[in-house]
Amino acid sequence: MLDYQEVLNTIYANAIQEKNKGIVASYIPELKHIDASNFGIHLRLITGKTYNVGQAETHFSIQSISKVLSLAYAFSLVGNKLWQRLDVEPSGNPFNHLALLELEHGIPRNPFINSGAIVIADILISNLKNPKEDFLNYVRDLTNDTSINFNKKVAQSEKNTGFTNYAAANLLKSFNNLENPVEDVLDFYFHQCAIEMNCTQLSNAFFAFANQGKCVLNKTRLTSSQAKRINAIMLTCGFYDEAGEFAFEVGLPGKSGVGGGIVALLPNEFVISVWSPGLNDKGNSKLGMQALEQFTTLTKRSIF
Ligand code: DON
Repeated sequence: MLDYQEVLNTIYANAIQEKNKGIVASYIPELKHIDASNFGIHLRLITGKTYNVGQAETHFSIQSISKVLSLAYAFSLVGNKLWQRLDVEPSGNPFNHLALLELEHGIPRNPFINSGAIVIADILISNLKNPKEDFLNYVRDLTNDTSINFNKKVAQSEKNTGFTNYAAANLLKSFNNLENPVEDVLDFYFHQCAIEMNCTQLSNAFFAFANQGKCVLNKTRLTSSQAKRINAIMLTCGFYDEAGEFAFEVGLPGKSGVGGGIVALLPNEFVISVWSPGLNDKGNSKLGMQALEQFTTLTKRSIF
């Protein structure tokens, strides 16, 4: 029998002795104080059994991982109409790349690059009464945890320095692909990115994607077809210009954030969350990717 705890312990032992832990993001000033030696993993099997190692209970900024949750909410609210406003193709470019957006007339390549997530934020604002509060409640409901919150300092810090996101939003607005004012859309977007979770909460939040759309309490939150489609976008676009590398090394749908979190899943089997704040030069957690490569290699569990 596979001993998952043993596997996580091995990965942890490898990670803590690694000298090059990557570089903590500093372009959002509030994130640069995080200690790069943090490392945690939480694994939740579809049966409900859980395992963890290291700092699995320490909260961190989920950043771009939130883009999967905002996509799921928008998809459940408006259905396939969504795809009139953005595409589902890998971009092969960094998460904050702008040139392609202009060339492709304001239609973002996918919902996980910043411009795509900004369009999703706009769709949510148009469809919700109290957008930030309703989104937070959606995430709390998916996770079955009312303690989840925004870190307002992180949201403000990104607002002060988010010039590239302002450029993306203005470009989208100029192509008539934003219904709401740029300021409102970015205020929502900076807050969604500033949600904090620990690895345990992250695995719970993503359980529905591994469980045919049913959340941790086994309530339907997405159709199984929507869950399948979101997993496909995670596989092809979840790591920007490193999506091919992640599929090659790890072989699971997943999503990263510049806070150093990565969540990945095997449909009908498990969700695994890793946090290691040091990033590689593509903006993905360096040791997080290595940890997941070791996990799928040691357990022989991937989609391939
Ligand atoms: O918009 C940004 O730049 C950040 N709020 C999120 C970027 C991010 O997490 C990219 N992921 N690896």
